[in-house]
Amino acid sequence: MNKYNIAIDGPSGAGKSTVARLLAEKLGIVYLDTGALYRTVGLKAKREGWREDDAEVVRRLADTRIEAKFVGGIQRMYLDGEDVTDVIRTGDVSDYGSRFGTLPGVRAALLGLQRAAAQENSSVLDGRDIGTCVLPEAKYKFYLTASVDTRARRRYDELVGKGQDVSFEKVRTDILARDERDMTRKIAPLKKADDAIEINSDDMTAAEVAERMISFIER
Ligand code: DC
Repeated sequence: MNKYNIAIDGPSGAGKSTVARLLAEKLGIVYLDTGALYRTVGLKAKREGWREDDAEVVRRLADTRIEAKFVGGIQRMYLDGEDVTDVIRTGDVSDYGSRFGTLPGVRAALLGLQRAAAQENSSVLDGRDIGTCVLPEAKYKFYLTASVDTRARRRYDELVGKGQDVSFEKVRTDILARDERDMTRKIAPLKKADDAIEINSDDMTAAEVAERMISFIER
C-alpha cells in the first residue's frame, strides 16, 4: 500500500496519544507524538531561562539539536544528544512547550522535522495543528475532544499514578489555561480541520475510539 498519514488533533487530555498509539499498533505504522517535540523545546527554554522572544529563541534554536528516534517502535526524544524522553513528562515542561509553541520561530523549526517523519513512513501524528498545517493533505483526519472535566480527571489520574503531588483543581485550571493559549495563538492555533472527523471521547475508552477510527478508515 502507498504511504499514508493519519492526523489526530485536539486539546490536552482528550486521549490523543493513547488512541494514536493503539491505532499505529493495529495498523502497523509509526506513531509520532508531536507534543514531545514542543516539550523538548520547552525543557531547554526552562533549563536555560529563555525569554519568550522570537528572535532570541530562533538564535538559541540554531544551537539546539532536537531529535525523535524510534527504538523498537517507541519514540524517544533527544535534546542535544541527551535522552529526555522521561524528563519532558514531568512538572511544568508541557506548559513551557505550550508557551514557546506560540512563537513562529519554534513552529517553523519543528515543522520540517514533523513533515520529514511523515514522509518517511506511513504514520499517525497527534498534536494541535497536524490536519490544518503540518499535513493538510493527510489521508485521514480526526479531531478528538472531551469535556474539560473529563480531560482534567484523566490528567489528574495520570499524574497521581506517576506519584506526583497535584490537586484536581490545579490540573483543571492548567488545562483551561493551556486550551486558551493553544486555541488563540496567532500561528497554527488548535482547531478542527474542515475535513476532520470529530469524535468526543467523554464516554468512550481509548480502545473504542481507536476502533471507531479504524471503521472510518476501512469505510
Ligand atoms: O500534546 P502535549 O500536551 O504533549 O503538548 C504540549 C504542548 O505543546 C501543548 O500544550 C501545545 C504544544 N503543541 C503544539 O503547539 N502543537 C502541536 N502539534 C503539539 C503540541
